[in-house]
Amino acid sequence: MRGVPPEQTGPERDAPLFTDFTYDNLGVPKNPKNPFYGMPAQWNPEGAAYVDNGLGGYLKDAGYKPSRYEAEIGKFKVPSLRNVDKRPFPGFVKAFGHNGYFKSLKEIVHFYNTRDVHGRCEKLGDPRPGENCWPEPEVPSNINREELGNLGLTGKEEEAIVAFMGTLSDGYSMGK
Ligand code: HEM
Repeated sequence: MRGVPPEQTGPERDAPLFTDFTYDNLGVPKNPKNPFYGMPAQWNPEGAAYVDNGLGGYLKDAGYKPSRYEAEIGKFKVPSLRNVDKRPFPGFVKAFGHNGYFKSLKEIVHFYNTRDVHGRCEKLGDPRPGENCWPEPEVPSNINREELGNLGLTGKEEEAIVAFMGTLSDGYSMGK
């Protein structure tokens, strides 16, 4: 930050958010450990069968026509990656993705890289998600198949992306 005028260094001034503000369905698996499934019927009448349809679900419930909401089913907003790796202390486990399926940045980057390379866990007797399979997507409609799923990255390249994301934390400095 040396050389940057102080008025341009605060998060409130043109600070990059590292999102393109669009919506996408990455094909994220269901997270059965999400506490929402166990909530009282008053809040979650569908129990374990609940499916989060993201933007499309919201538009449907808001009364929009199928011609408007169908193309948005399963899409979630591309979140800001600013501070994505920021934690209260180094060993603190964060969950990533709208339903918290991924428990590390390495896991989600590996998913981007190999979603369409591994087979489905549901078909295997010895499923090891991320290693020999990925679970089926929670919502199969409108999955982005052009920009992710088989990136051809090596393990080292995945780690470099994870390390890069670590630099997006406010106050980051080399050697921390
Ligand atoms: C290598 C490049 C990319 C990296 C490192 C990356 C990283 C991430 C991370 C870490 C998250 C989780 C953030 C959180 O939970 O707070 C995320 C979510 C997301 N990203 Fe990416 N991303 C990449 C490329 C893309 C592309 C190309 C798209 C769109 C085509 C995209 C769309 C999304 C969406 C929609 C979510 C939210 C998914 C959900 O919650 O269901 N990302 N990304």
